[in-house]
Amino acid sequence: MTSAHRTIINLDISGPTISRHVYGHFAEHLRHCIYGGFYVGEDSPIPHDQGIRLDVVEALRGLDIPNLRWPGGCFADEYHWKDGIGPKADRPSIVNTHWGDVEENNHFGTHEFMHLCELLGAEPYISGNVGSGSVEEMSQWVEYLTRAGDSPMVRLRQQNGRDEPWPVRFWGIGNETWGCGGNMRAEFYADLARQYGTYCRDHGENQLYRVASGAAVDDYAWTEALMKTIGDLGCGCRPHDYFQAVTLHHYTFANSWDEKGSATDFGVDEYYATMLNAQRMDELITRHSNVMDCYDPGRRIGLVVDEWGTWFEVEPGTNPGFLRQQNTLRDSLVASLHFDIFHRHAERVTMANIAQTVNVLQAMILTDGERMVLTPTYHVFEMNKGHHDAASLPVHFATPVSSRATTLTVQGGAKSLTTLSMSASTKGGRALISLTNLDAEAAQTVEIDLRGASFDVFRSRILHAPHLQDHNSTEQPDAVSPQPFDGVTRSGDTLAVALPAHSFATVELVV
Ligand code: AHR
Repeated sequence: MTSAHRTIINLDISGPTISRHVYGHFAEHLRHCIYGGFYVGEDSPIPHDQGIRLDVVEALRGLDIPNLRWPGGCFADEYHWKDGIGPKADRPSIVNTHWGDVEENNHFGTHEFMHLCELLGAEPYISGNVGSGSVEEMSQWVEYLTRAGDSPMVRLRQQNGRDEPWPVRFWGIGNETWGCGGNMRAEFYADLARQYGTYCRDHGENQLYRVASGAAVDDYAWTEALMKTIGDLGCGCRPHDYFQAVTLHHYTFANSWDEKGSATDFGVDEYYATMLNAQRMDELITRHSNVMDCYDPGRRIGLVVDEWGTWFEVEPGTNPGFLRQQNTLRDSLVASLHFDIFHRHAERVTMANIAQTVNVLQAMILTDGERMVLTPTYHVFEMNKGHHDAASLPVHFATPVSSRATTLTVQGGAKSLTTLSMSASTKGGRALISLTNLDAEAAQTVEIDLRGASFDVFRSRILHAPHLQDHNSTEQPDAVSPQPFDGVTRSGDTLAVALPAHSFATVELVV
């Protein structure tokens, strides 16, 4: 039976701006994300530009990717950037010990990454090596990329064919330094973040946005240790000079880290457990942000969720170290739910990066030799583009709860799942409303009372499929793809939106 949920959106009372950077991406040297995914090499028969795959670039241009994080992840803390510059034949190989224990020939390095960003129109977000690198190495990388004029690193860059510096704002000071990035203790790393932050210089006009390696999931003590260090040092330094943001990583498993669950073979209870684990992002951001508020009430330090998304068992028959997984309608609802959460926390969450863009974890694109498919998750990013840099519009509604999910115990304890998720924003005479019905079995109707401005419905689209497990393949590339949505009816200033079970819809308004 369909129930109706009354909702109010004031079109003329907006909240903080949703940074386009919450729609950021992540490309790690995790085998086929780079090799075969983004990069096929200059001798490949697959159409490319300097080795970068053009079909993948073309598809991703459709998402207006704001930033791309590279080279890791765990790989970042064993990556030595000078191995990846200069003639390819002279570049040394290393072993990628984290991911598949395979040889990394360094053919995709700094210049290739910067070219990829230029092709995508995305800002680079470089993740520097703290775990096995040095302050000097990271400081020189910043100089190599961003300095103009004449200096040792500028001359090296010019020898490698690039005269002008690149603008690079986003800079990660290590990754998961509590784990693969060095197994450090919080206070030790907090001091390193200040040290590295000091020597990652702003060259000329290039102002770095230094991102300190923050907490795993609910490690609030880690955030506190980092935030404590922003206090005044008695040197007249502005308190946030060392880093401008801290990170949070939280992945969504069907069950737990030890029981990740199948990407395609799951039942309704596992679906609800997945959604509960995804919904936990809201609590995590709220609580980390509360800790940050104690030291930074003015919210100058950003929270950067630079790894999020689903992590399931790898696709049967693939290398367990390459983390390839299918992507179903369930994944797309995990994505839409995360975006609603990020939009609600727009004041604190300045960036987020889904893991990872191509062929790894919750990917936008899966390649298979010369072929590729767009995943259901890709379509959520595309349908939500109108939220980039838009002013958030608070959505007021009573949240329906699933009785089935209430009985599940997931990461963080027993929880109840809110089965409806929504967010809205406005920009340039348009408004975009995103709605997700998480209920696996029941349709839900939402009655949206739109106040404060006159409007016309410009377009409505829906992402839906008969089964939660439905996904796209090279044989059926559009099994889960956006369709025109005729479930929106208008009565005065009220829109009734009839959402089928397990669906994501967007309603675009002219205001
Ligand atoms: O995204 C895969 C891995 O997950 C990253 O390398 C690491 O930072 C995290 O643990």
